[in-house]
Amino acid sequence: MAKEVLGVLCSGRGTDLQSIMDAISAGSLEAEIAVVLADKPEAMALRRAEKAGIRSVCVNRKLYEDRESFERVLVSELRKSGVTLVILAGFMRILSPYFVHEYSGRIMNIHPALLPSFGGAHAHRDVLAYGVKISGCTVHFVDEGMDSGPIILQAAVPVLDDDTEETLGARVLEQEHIIYPKAIQLYVEGRLKVEGRHVKIVEKK
Ligand code: GAR
Repeated sequence: MAKEVLGVLCSGRGTDLQSIMDAISAGSLEAEIAVVLADKPEAMALRRAEKAGIRSVCVNRKLYEDRESFERVLVSELRKSGVTLVILAGFMRILSPYFVHEYSGRIMNIHPALLPSFGGAHAHRDVLAYGVKISGCTVHFVDEGMDSGPIILQAAVPVLDDDTEETLGARVLEQEHIIYPKAIQLYVEGRLKVEGRHVKIVEKK
């Protein structure tokens, strides 16, 4: 039986979601996805979930007056599905302290840059504009700040002279699809020990 029940929040094409679904199918991630939630109806992630026979719900942000009423519906959907770990997979909204408190220490995000550099919604554009030679991705726990929670895993990729946001994004995405399922499996195995800002990975028993 799966040890963790995941609720995955998405906004777009859902390739990170797909990598998690694939890892579960392959047996390298011992979890189940109980629900996929998206904040817009056109999110491809919803189609991917449907195709895999996973419950998917659109909670359209546009239909809610404010963030709190929107998030209350998200929380109620997650509770309804018995979710124990919330996975942000390309979810392009900042969660309020209310939401973060509801799932304190049980929300993970992946960001397409090496945090704490290049947080925010345009990581690849900002990386290319700055001229750094190495970029990558970061899986972290979510706290009340933006892209600021304790870091679980990171992977690096080179930034090439002729990179565009698309070519760099594709190179980073390949790594995202490796480290996100891996980070979730470490959580499932109880191997992530959080001490302040530090996440220690303890040996497998
Ligand atoms: C991924 O690159 C993810 O790191 C990024 O959105 C993309 C989603 O791709 N997330 C953020 O920028 C969060 N601030 P996907 O929809 O194909 O999974």
